[in-house]
Order: sequence, then C-alpha cells, then structure tokens
Amino acid sequence: MRLLLVLLVLGAARPLACAESHWCYEIQAQAANTSCMGPDSWGGECKNLEQQSPINIVTSKAQLDHKLGRFSFLGYDRKNEKVVENNGHTVMVSLAAGTEIAGGGLAARYRATQLHLHWSQGLDRGSEHALDGDRFAMEMHIVHQKEKGTSRAEEAAQDSKDEIAVLAFLVEAGDQKNAGFQPLVDALSRIPRPGWNTTTSISLSELLPEEGRLSHYFRYLGSLTTPGCEEKVVWTVFKEPIRLHTDQILAFSRQLYYDQDQKLSMTDNVRPLQPRGQRPVFRSQAAGPLLPLPLPTLLAPTLTCLVAGFLR
Ligand SMILES: *[C@@H]1O[C@H](CO)[C@@H](O)[C@H](O)[C@H]1NC(C)=O
Ligand SMILES: *[C@@H]1O[C@H](CO)[C@@H](O)[C@H](O)[C@H]1NC(C)=O
Ligand SMILES: [Zn+2]
Repeated sequence: MRLLLVLLVLGAARPLACAESHWCYEIQAQAANTSCMGPDSWGGECKNLEQQSPINIVTSKAQLDHKLGRFSFLGYDRKNEKVVENNGHTVMVSLAAGTEIAGGGLAARYRATQLHLHWSQGLDRGSEHALDGDRFAMEMHIVHQKEKGTSRAEEAAQDSKDEIAVLAFLVEAGDQKNAGFQPLVDALSRIPRPGWNTTTSISLSELLPEEGRLSHYFRYLGSLTTPGCEEKVVWTVFKEPIRLHTDQILAFSRQLYYDQDQKLSMTDNVRPLQPRGQRPVFRSQAAGPLLPLPLPTLLAPTLTCLVAGFLR
C-alpha cells in the first residue's frame, strides 16, 4: 500500500518536475546532445500572447503618466556580503530583508528578493527588452515582491497583476571600467558551474547609475521572462543605462557555464521578444530635459513616500 502511494506521488510529481527543470534557452536547445525545452516549448503561461515579457518599447508611443514619480530606494546603499550563485540559467545575487522600493507609481511597497542578469557575447543582443528596436549588451533585473497589507486596494484585487515588481536596467558597453560592478565580475570565476555559489561584498547602489538619473523610466504590465512566465509583473525599464567596460560584459560569457562539464558557455540567456498586444506602455514625466515644475507636482510623491514610511 505504501509503495503504491509512493508510486502515485512520483507519477503525479514527475511531469511537473520535468517541465520546470528541463527548460532552457535557444542556444542550449540547439547545442549537441541536449534534450531541453527551448523558448518555443516553454509551458506554464509562456504560451499566452496577451501579457508576456519582454517587449520592444516604442518610446515615441509611450504615454506620459504624471503619477510615475521618483522611487525611494531603501537599503540599496547597504554594503554587505551577498550570496552569488550560478543557478544554471544566470548569475543570481540573493538579497536580504530590508532592501525595498517605494514610490515610482507603485501601489505598495516591494521587498527586493534577488537580482540577476541576461547577456550575450553580441553586444547588441544581450538585453531582453528593446528600446525602439535596439537591444543592449546586457539587462539586469532586480526582483521585488509586493508587501502584504500595504495597499487598501489589494484586498479587493485578489488576482493581482502586480504581485512582483522588476526593475530593469539596460547595460551599455564602453571603454571605461565600472568600479562598482567589479566585485561581482570578480566573483564569476569562482562559480563556473551550475549550483556553485560564493559571496561578495556589494551594495545595490554601486551597481546602478546615479540615483538622480533614475527618474526617467517606462512602465507596463507583463510577465516573468522564465517559465512559468506568470503574468503578475509590473515592469520598470529605466532609460539611463548602466555602463560597463566591454571586458566586464564579456566576463559573464567567458567565466560561466550552463553545464557541469563546462562545455557550453552561459550566454544568450535571453527570452525572445513577445507581442505587446493592446497593452499601453507609460513613461514617467521626467523623460527629456528637466523643466521647472509647479511645486505641488514635485511635493506630492515625496509626501506620499514620507507618509508611507511613517505608517510602517
Ligand atoms: C554526443 O553523444 C554521443 C553519443 O553519446 C557522443 O559520441 C558524442 O561525442 C557527444 N557529442 C558531444 C559534443 O558531446
Ligand atoms: C552554497 O554551496 C554550498 C556548497 O555546495 C551549499 O551547501 C550551500 O547550501 C549553498 N548556499 C546557497 C545559499 O545556495
Ligand atoms: Zn530576468
């Protein structure tokens, strides 16, 4: 009887486990001796067409939304040891409690859980999102989870489309070394294989462009870009890129591998563009040169953040 139960449980669990563990990027699907499922075969919600990510953002068509104010970045400047892992799909940095965002037109506070990157050896095809058809060298995603009970509307909206907030930073190649990024780049050589991890002392602020340049961004509702592609992500794509030296970018493809045998370099870990469909894309009003604004417009988001801060 017990054996039968075990068999039943195994039988039930196996299809799911396979679906999750065997997904891979196109470059892996095409490599010799692999039998993983490339993007065309991803399951879950990945086959939906209405609200998937990434997309091409046509900047001239993005609608101005005055509610898209500045972000407050909480704990982003805290420098401490963080775990960096090769998870077989990307390099992922785990983020501890106390790293949060507020403002930015979001309905609640969000707690950062992890960050990871997407890249290619081709410096014009390593980002997932595109701006006016152009892809960038890399894209960094900081993934945040909505905090429960911070929004009154949340109780009404059960099936929330903004459970997760991802901050996306495009990365541009240049000939100047980015010192803030170097500890992370140095860590790559210690985690060539899937499942390996290491630690490095970094703060999030060191990885990002100056905070003063982060008021220009695009906003739309989409999905995770890995299986099961759940459609519950409020996306923020910043206009200001992170600038890295070309060698810092190429280090990702050179140091990391998809497989234990270190035969297949980890590169082109990028999901193809998805249709935008009927979805609107919004832009913050700060796009373009800064013009003098009426004082209330400037104060309102700040006050909201302050109040939100005190209420917690
Ligand atoms: C693929 O598998 C075959 C048979 O197992 C083996 O002979 C061949 O060397 C493998 N090729 C690569 C590139 O690993
Ligand atoms: C890091 O790797 C070690 C050794 O393989 C493992 O025991 C540990 O659980 C890993 N830590 C994390 C956070 O993944
Ligand atoms: Zn990502």
